[in-house]
Amino acid sequence: MDCGYSVKILLERRKVVVIGDGTAVDREIARLLVAGARVTWVSPRHSETWRDETAVTHIEAEPHIGCLEGASLILLCTDQAPLRTRVVQWGELLAIPVALAEPIAQVSQKTVTHGIGSVALVGAGPGDPNLLTLKAKDLLQQAEVVLFDQLISPDLLAMVPDSAAWIHVGKTRGKARMQQEAICELLVDLAKRGKRVVRLKGGDPMMFGRAAEEIGALRVAGIPFEVVPGVTAALGCAAQAGICLTDRRHAHGVQFISATRADQNAPPPWRGLLRPNQTLVVYMGLWRLEALCRDLMMEGAPPTLAVALICQGTSPHARVIRADLSTLPEAAGNAVSPALLIIGEVARDPAVNATKAPRPGRNRRFAALAAASAAMLPVGAG
Ligand SMILES: C[S@@+](CC[C@H](N)C(=O)[O-])C[C@H]1O[C@@H](n2cnc3c(N)ncnc32)[C@H](O)[C@@H]1O
Repeated sequence: MDCGYSVKILLERRKVVVIGDGTAVDREIARLLVAGARVTWVSPRHSETWRDETAVTHIEAEPHIGCLEGASLILLCTDQAPLRTRVVQWGELLAIPVALAEPIAQVSQKTVTHGIGSVALVGAGPGDPNLLTLKAKDLLQQAEVVLFDQLISPDLLAMVPDSAAWIHVGKTRGKARMQQEAICELLVDLAKRGKRVVRLKGGDPMMFGRAAEEIGALRVAGIPFEVVPGVTAALGCAAQAGICLTDRRHAHGVQFISATRADQNAPPPWRGLLRPNQTLVVYMGLWRLEALCRDLMMEGAPPTLAVALICQGTSPHARVIRADLSTLPEAAGNAVSPALLIIGEVARDPAVNATKAPRPGRNRRFAALAAASAAMLPVGAG
């Protein structure tokens, strides 16, 4: 029976058993980790989310009373009434308190009742830890909790004080460890608990980094936040390859585009993007490199258009592959991610440039092709 009391339990180094697979489960596990608990998560669903987290043990099975041995707290993350009833009975039998997790999207609606923390969305740069800004370094050194993405250099995490908690919320082998809504809720929740939170993102947080969703959640909840820019992959990779994205002899401008869109089925609008004397930088394009080059050529880009593919830019393993649109898929061979494409005359191999300057007709021909494909556009598109 709920008698209305709230009880505070210190969870540091205590075993907490999380039962179920409700929407809030990842948020709750992350919160328990921040509190220093050892988490045993019992749910038959296979999940990679906490695979590398040593403080989390996932028992992929239906919950049974044996899982509760030695627990200081049981946390119910399920809306299945019969399972809840059974677990509450086990808790009573073993004298272990049982708490019920709130489903997702309720926590952020709550009013703030106590000292409030803050969130900094911080850009980690593209790989080389020396590209971190001084401001980002300061914030990392003062952080109480760091939520970080995939591809963050361990050297940056080493700046975080020992007393701080860090939680990996990024992707592993393309699979999200934690859903975006859960990350937003966790940021809000931690700040409401008075924590100084750093949300560390690769490159620049505002560039293809889902910062908008997180800022939106923080705004709605009234949490103070700041954004600290980082060196985005385009700039890090261009520097690595010695490519001037706006070399005035070849490009009047540069466009940044993601090959992966919120709607996975919709291809990027290449036709509208192709312009003569423009550099195109494509993020997240490696997984569909062949289709991407083919689509560009079908939309009027010349097969000889220069392309540079930069893999693991700014890291000690960086690799720059130069080719043209028609030869890149083969030249890319076993290129590894993260990788970025720079498309346009600026990407031409300088050795080739020196010996064989682009023929004068090239840009005119590209302009004609772009104009022709623009003419084929349906009304209102482009
Ligand atoms: C989700 S986006 C995040 C971009 C990030 N916010 C930024 O500003 O660079 C990830 C993509 O950035 C690019 N990327 C990130 N780091 C890179 C690196 N070191 N070398 C090459 N490409 C990189 C890749 O295209 C990768 O698929």
